[in-house]
Amino acid sequence: MSTTTTPTGRVLHATGETPAGIPTSHARLRAWVEDVAHLCEPDQIYWCDGSDEEWERLTDQLVEAGTLVRLNPAKKPNSFWARTDPSDVARVEKRTFICSRREADAGPTNNWMNPRQMKDTMTELYRGSMHGRTMYVVPFCMGPLEAENPLYGVEITDSAYVAVSMRIMTRMGQAVLDGLGSDGDFVPCLHSVGAPLEPGEQDVPWPCDDTKYISHFPETREIWSYGSGYGGNSLLGKKCYSLRIASAIARDEGWLAEHMLILKLISPEQHVHYIAAAFPSACGKTNLAMLEPTLPGWKVETLGDDIAWMRFGPDGRLYAQNPEYGLFGVAPGTGWKTNPNAMRTIERGNSVFTNVALTDDGDVWWEGYSDQSPAHLTDWKGRDWTPGNGEPAAHPNSRFCTPLPQCPIVAPEFDDPRGVPVSALFFGGRRATTVPLVTQARDWTHGVFLASTLSSEQTAAAEGKVGVVRRDPMAMLPFIGYNAGDYFDHWINIGKHHDNARLPQIFYVNWFRRDEDGSFLWPGFGENGRVLKWAIDRIEGRADARGTPIGYVPAPGSLDLSGLTIDDDAVEELVRVDEEEWRAEVPGIAEWFETIGDTVPAALWGELDGLRNRLGQR
Ligand code: GDP
Ligand code: PGA
Ligand code: MN
Ligand code: MN
Repeated sequence: MSTTTTPTGRVLHATGETPAGIPTSHARLRAWVEDVAHLCEPDQIYWCDGSDEEWERLTDQLVEAGTLVRLNPAKKPNSFWARTDPSDVARVEKRTFICSRREADAGPTNNWMNPRQMKDTMTELYRGSMHGRTMYVVPFCMGPLEAENPLYGVEITDSAYVAVSMRIMTRMGQAVLDGLGSDGDFVPCLHSVGAPLEPGEQDVPWPCDDTKYISHFPETREIWSYGSGYGGNSLLGKKCYSLRIASAIARDEGWLAEHMLILKLISPEQHVHYIAAAFPSACGKTNLAMLEPTLPGWKVETLGDDIAWMRFGPDGRLYAQNPEYGLFGVAPGTGWKTNPNAMRTIERGNSVFTNVALTDDGDVWWEGYSDQSPAHLTDWKGRDWTPGNGEPAAHPNSRFCTPLPQCPIVAPEFDDPRGVPVSALFFGGRRATTVPLVTQARDWTHGVFLASTLSSEQTAAAEGKVGVVRRDPMAMLPFIGYNAGDYFDHWINIGKHHDNARLPQIFYVNWFRRDEDGSFLWPGFGENGRVLKWAIDRIEGRADARGTPIGYVPAPGSLDLSGLTIDDDAVEELVRVDEEEWRAEVPGIAEWFETIGDTVPAALWGELDGLRNRLGQR
């Protein structure tokens, strides 16, 4: 077999060859790529450079393969529609493993397998798994390339869809290889869709396998993923690296890797506050990150919508950085009324839409895109769709994947390697009852208690029954890369940092409380700016609060509701703390801590005792 050089001079080489043109002198990286090629036996190897030419070539190939459909450039320039296999639409938490040497180090909240055993099992799955396919080598960096210690990764994948998506979601390409030099550190990330093509076999538009493994080796900092092409399972820089592996690195190094958006809030007086907020998947992070406040004079700018890495700065404050470069947002519910900034971002093109519906004029559509659906669509399963056919046209976990820098309200400092100092941390979930619109924690430890007991109704972002309430501590249940009790302890210890006074204040929010008829009590979206304002007013000592057994809620009149049509009963209900409901909540919290076991810090049990006392439970 011969080595061919692509038009841009990239090395496309046959397995077993080591042509002189490999774009790195990094011996360990080259050896790993060779080893993987030897195991997976792809037809050819391609090193990604991240260029525009490469994007065009790969997207053209994907269009030809039927994986992507090019959208009408007049509607969405340089953008594509993808439909997955109907079985490959979300993260697979049951198939996600933390493979630490000791089972206890994975904690009871993760699936565990011994690393040796997992590697043996997966090695057999990978053997020959790339037959008939190209193996892409995707060098990427999480966080700015100019960081003091950039966190690099290299993903090997047999999916061009993954390669182009990684170009949107991360800083990807030759600059990373240059940064790595000849011996830089990187997290090796191996991905195969697990669908080898034997000679003469016809490919399908969305290759994947029924057998799936999303495996993490936190001690050796490696990721092995097999069988799925869906974003959260296959774009390994995102959840796998920046949350599961990074949370383990962060524990070792004294920082935090969290499932949080980062926003910049600017008051009418031009005072700036940065806020990071953790909500479970499909509970409002992307929307809050791009909020258009309805309160006059207030402005939000976006720094990130899913992941925050937070480290102490020299001034003792926590500085947040978004390691990603793109947005991977839930499509349904995203429209001009709810999230105009997301609409403006995707209008600029350069995006991949997965499992949404296609209009007859080559645009995308999903439930909530506009008030009225078009008269005819091609739905996410590729079938004809007309209004009232009884099924949603877009999958509830369908996604847009779009570059963050083209968001019209991106904060210029999103790319600053120093990050931004955080004033407040928000935690929240979807709860129809019990949890008020906003509660301020009394102090750091109390805030960690609220976050560690966060609960939310399950959404379509992961496999499982939608609507079931589950504990989702810090919105990190599926992403903690080690023992959950140790993770809580790490959070408590962060609060013992030398300069306690400079720690962010912690708030617990719930946009999803419902009335007796099941309607949302709070209008949400742009109106959530009122809650951000209350939080800042609390921090700056301007707003009144009412002490309750669970924390501080807005005192009557302290939440700025000017210009909002909402009846007084609804407002009262939104901030109501029903002691009966909370007494009923306590046994569930105790049970939750008991499930995690003896790694739960005593300070959190102490907080639970305090709550019981305040509820008059002993
Ligand atoms: P993420 O997955 O956490 O980033 O959540 P998104 O921001 O993508 O939102 C997920 C879903 O929740 C979408 O369908 C949104 O329309 C909906 N949503 C987001 N914010 C609000 C809100 O304030 N109120 C209500 N009722 N729904 C919201
Ligand atoms: P989300 O991100 O939090 O925006 O839903 C993807 C995911 O968590 O699967
Ligand atoms: Mn997420
Ligand atoms: Mn999101």
